[in-house]
Amino acid sequence: MSNPLQTRKNGRINVVLNHKRDNELEINEPVLLSDEERVKHQILEKFEAELAEYVGLGEVKRLIKEIYAWLYINRCRETQGLKTSKQVFHMIFKGNPGTGKTTVARIIAKFFHEMEVLSKGQLIECERADLVGEYIGHTAQKTREVLKKASGGVLFIDEAYSLSRGGEKDFGKEAIDTLVKAMEDQQHDFVLILAGYSREMDYFLSLNPGLPSRFPIAIDFPNYSTDELMEMVRRMVKEREYELTKEAERHVREHLRQLRLDQERTFSNGRYIRNIVEEAIRLQAVRLLKQGSYDRDSLITIEKEDFNFDTSHVKLN
Ligand SMILES: Nc1ncnc2c1ncn2[C@@H]1O[C@H](COP(=O)(O)OP(=O)(O)OP(=O)(O)O)[C@@H](O)[C@H]1O
Ligand SMILES: [Mg+2]
Repeated sequence: MSNPLQTRKNGRINVVLNHKRDNELEINEPVLLSDEERVKHQILEKFEAELAEYVGLGEVKRLIKEIYAWLYINRCRETQGLKTSKQVFHMIFKGNPGTGKTTVARIIAKFFHEMEVLSKGQLIECERADLVGEYIGHTAQKTREVLKKASGGVLFIDEAYSLSRGGEKDFGKEAIDTLVKAMEDQQHDFVLILAGYSREMDYFLSLNPGLPSRFPIAIDFPNYSTDELMEMVRRMVKEREYELTKEAERHVREHLRQLRLDQERTFSNGRYIRNIVEEAIRLQAVRLLKQGSYDRDSLITIEKEDFNFDTSHVKLN
């Protein structure tokens, strides 16, 4: 145990022991030391850099590091003639709209491809209608077609809980059975990700007792905090070479704070942010045309009035 840290709070002494175990990696903690090591672990560095562009997503960042380490060590064991194990990477993503599920699925597909877990690394996104047919036998056929496209990559099923919508008689059940069969047949060149609202996904898994154990990795995508949403606004604005005035920033923050209170369940998080930033850019353009101002400063600056939430066309969910 190193560096026990003592702080005095309300007359009490709190001892904070800095005794992190070696397997508890902090999100941005550099595990790699020398340049030589860094070259060896370029793939990890590359994906960490890509993920660092996104706000939050701590669980995902940790998971990538964990899977990378395991795959790497497995290879080292292989060269030493030691036993290696296979793992199942099917996953459940739980979270509200716009919390980054599709974005992360795409990154994970690429990561598995570069790590040679998946032969192609494509992401096939689908939903109930792509899998479920209208007559007996149709569903298995449709689902198999989708599975074929996803072979060598990631199959991402959005709102997966809707496959259990109609109970036993519904063809959704046939889709689930076909998926389960495929998971058993081609376990190692295909990753299945089931995504949806947290509550619905839990219910869905409880209705299908054979499923949870087939998805050893479950990731929560919580709603972003106001600070995180503001960080997204800043990054998106900066990336597009604009700047917000202080008033604009305050105005957006207050709006987001209120929105998170009113629309906690349906509010579309990152997607909403992207849409309001793009709308503000359009409204700024209209303002500049009206004003006839085309100097560099004007072109860059987004003002409070460019975010007009009362007349906005951006959908909340
Ligand atoms: N952590 C983040 N940092 C920056 N941008 C983000 C983040 N999360 C999401 N976004 C942005 O929000 C938008 C929506 O993200 P994405 O499509 O991945 O969400 P989703 O969870 O799949 O939503 P849905 O469930 O509605 O399909 C994208 O433009 C993405 O770049
Ligand atoms: Mg999505």
